[in-house]
Amino acid sequence: MPEVNKNIKDVGTGFASFLSPPGPEVVRFTVGQPDFDTPEAVVQSAKDSLDRGETVYTRTQGSVELCTAVSNHLKRHKISIPAEDIVISPGCKQAILYGMMATLDPGDEVLLLAPAWPSYDGMLKLLGAVPIHVPVNRENYHPDFTALEKAVTGKTKAIIVNSPNNPTGAVYEPKEVEMLVKFAEKHDLWIIDDMIYATLVWEEYGYTSPSVYEGGKDRTITIGGWSKGWAMTGWRLGWVGGPSEVIDAVKKINASAATHVATFLMPAAVTALSLEEETKNMAASFRQRRDVIHELLDALPGLSVPKPEGAFYALCDVTGTGMDDVEFATRALQEAQVQLIPGSLMQGGEGLVRISYATSMENIEEGVKRLRNWLSSF
Ligand SMILES: Cc1ncc(COP(=O)(O)O)c(C=O)c1O
Repeated sequence: MPEVNKNIKDVGTGFASFLSPPGPEVVRFTVGQPDFDTPEAVVQSAKDSLDRGETVYTRTQGSVELCTAVSNHLKRHKISIPAEDIVISPGCKQAILYGMMATLDPGDEVLLLAPAWPSYDGMLKLLGAVPIHVPVNRENYHPDFTALEKAVTGKTKAIIVNSPNNPTGAVYEPKEVEMLVKFAEKHDLWIIDDMIYATLVWEEYGYTSPSVYEGGKDRTITIGGWSKGWAMTGWRLGWVGGPSEVIDAVKKINASAATHVATFLMPAAVTALSLEEETKNMAASFRQRRDVIHELLDALPGLSVPKPEGAFYALCDVTGTGMDDVEFATRALQEAQVQLIPGSLMQGGEGLVRISYATSMENIEEGVKRLRNWLSSF
């Protein structure tokens, strides 16, 4: 038999090993998706489109209406990208892959702020690029600029920014984003900005796009999607926008790889972007849960938890319990019946566990109670 692609052997499986659905007796803090239904108006819009027979090929980069709606949505985040430079992709994940394919060559090094969402590492390895994991400051999970400077080599080509962040829950302050832009300018790097959690920020300063700073616009590839802020994970819809040269490359990649997302999903995605009330209510509910879970977790013996600033994750340092993160997660499942993600599944996540609070308030209270009883029994 001929050999499979050599790049594949280095590609990990992310959180998969700790995501398998446990029995109903287990409290699950692992799944990173909103526990809301997709807003009814969005579902109706897809049904209406099907009823109109919109089931055939259409514009490859996404309908004009949808690209325009994304362009207008981005304006709310002070991002200025014309509709012509937006491509709609099957999920934010694929948009990230497209952004990487358009900007990287095999052997290029890409800086990740570690611990980073594991799919970035996997995608880079698929492309033959080299992920360089640069640890963030451990006390607040914000970028460590000294460490970043040290990580740059002649091969560094890009940095991936994800704020609000999965898995850390950090939201970078505007001055930090500006520093990231200066850093990228100094070393002539692309900035791949994954803004998927941009509508879920619990700090006054909100999400900041690198493209708003001088020198940022021409090197930032802005990537987002509907999964988290609109409760649409299963719809597989994302966007990528940026400088025309990059997006022209993305258009070619998309035309070769996917043609376009399902035609009847496009009007639904437009409808989603027109909603205000529903998305605000979902975000407000996550914020409330953040307040409750942070207070409860921080009071647990041996745990220290920086206050999550956005998304729906709390990243807890468990080293004070005397266990490493894998032992903690394994025993929490077996002995306390609470499922969480050990941080060492990501480089730089050693000693940390990720808790997703995208679950009901009852689950949050019950899950933390179980952890408290378990930890107090030692
Ligand atoms: C940081 C980050 N980016 C992208 C994605 C993927 O989004 P989508 O489901 O739209 O592909 C996720 C999903 O967990 C994520 O956490």
